Amino acid sequence: MADPKGIAARALYRETGAADRAAIRALEAEVYSSSIAAVSEALISGPAETLSLAAEIEGRLVGHILLTPIAGPDRALALAPHAILPAWRDMQIGTELVRHALRMARERGWRSVFVYGQPDYYCRFGFRSRTADGADVSWQGPRFLALELEPGALSGWSGPLAYPEAYLAAARTIAG
Ligand SMILES: CC(C)(COP(=O)(O)OP(=O)(O)OC[C@H]1O[C@@H](n2cnc3c(N)ncnc32)[C@H](O)[C@@H]1OP(=O)(O)O)[C@@H](O)C(=O)NCCC(=O)NCCS
Repeated sequence: MADPKGIAARALYRETGAADRAAIRALEAEVYSSSIAAVSEALISGPAETLSLAAEIEGRLVGHILLTPIAGPDRALALAPHAILPAWRDMQIGTELVRHALRMARERGWRSVFVYGQPDYYCRFGFRSRTADGADVSWQGPRFLALELEPGALSGWSGPLAYPEAYLAAARTIAG
């Protein structure tokens, strides 16, 4: 059997375009639900400056990640959904996808990223719940994490975070 970690190294990590919409919708419907897939598609095709990346292997989309602007601290993003097709999990593809997305976000001048997720998974990228402490949101807690893309971006900041309403509905479903 091929080395699973070698598979992640061979995958292509790239921004998505209009031609990828159907594949992303199918992937997210399989991993999450058709309603989350619809919200994700609306965000990608809407006016906000989202970052949408896919992991592609032999021409097939096996993973997707979306970062969406949120209002609060200067140049902040929310990370979700982040999805890898079941047959392609535990091969480090999800990890590489996050790394590529964070690098691209940093290059484009984004200063921080928030995620509601598993601390054991997202801590490998530097996400910490204490970094998100300043955010006044009802889902505050150990699974609400943040990462500074620019050192000090969140230090001393506190206040509400404003997510698109459709995004909040989808996030509640993901968080389960
Ligand atoms: C979470 C997800 C994106 C990870 O992608 P992946 O490509 O399978 O993950 P990777 O191969 O990069 O990383 C595997 C590692 O993450 C760990 N891991 C996977 N899912 C995890 C989870 N839900 N919580 C904690 N750790 C997890 C594995 O144990 C493994 O650990 P190791 O590197 O120490 O061996 C993927 O499992 C997925 O799509 N899950 C369903 C949707 C989901 O839960 N998305 C996250 C929403 S916040």
